[in-house]
Amino acid sequence: MAACVPIGMADRVTDLLERAYIDEMETVMNYQTNAIVLDGVRAEEIKNSLQEDIQEELDHANRLGQRLKQLGGRPPGSEAFVAGQESLQPPADSTDVRSVIQGVLDAEGDAIDTYRELIDAADAADDPVTEDLAVTILADEEAHRTEFRGFETEYRSDSV
Ligand SMILES: [Fe+2]
Ligand SMILES: [Fe+2]
Repeated sequence: MAACVPIGMADRVTDLLERAYIDEMETVMNYQTNAIVLDGVRAEEIKNSLQEDIQEELDHANRLGQRLKQLGGRPPGSEAFVAGQESLQPPADSTDVRSVIQGVLDAEGDAIDTYRELIDAADAADDPVTEDLAVTILADEEAHRTEFRGFETEYRSDSV
């Protein structure tokens, strides 16, 4: 007999997978936009890093969507989309690299919170495959945050 999972726990996993999928797609959009918008020699490293992360975030979305499908669901389309990344909007001043760094740190922090929630929910729903996926993606998001904390430190230490 299959282990008894409390009612609602599997729904919570599905809800979090959908939310994480939408957040990844919003991150792709804002990283792409900022990688285009930023100007200046000092922005080059940030732009290159954003371009690399876009591919990883897109891969996260793909894996979340595939997992939703395996669970009998499907990833949402754009009509389900609700924007939430206020601090990651492209800055009015295209040389304001600090604003983008802060926006990335906020987005990565939110992603880390979501994947931690998903790990707990998948554990409660006795769904080790989703839990394993959430742990793998969490490790990527922590690496992104570490990289941008490095940029933040660099920008804090000079007055540029
Ligand atoms: Fe991601
Ligand atoms: Fe990330």
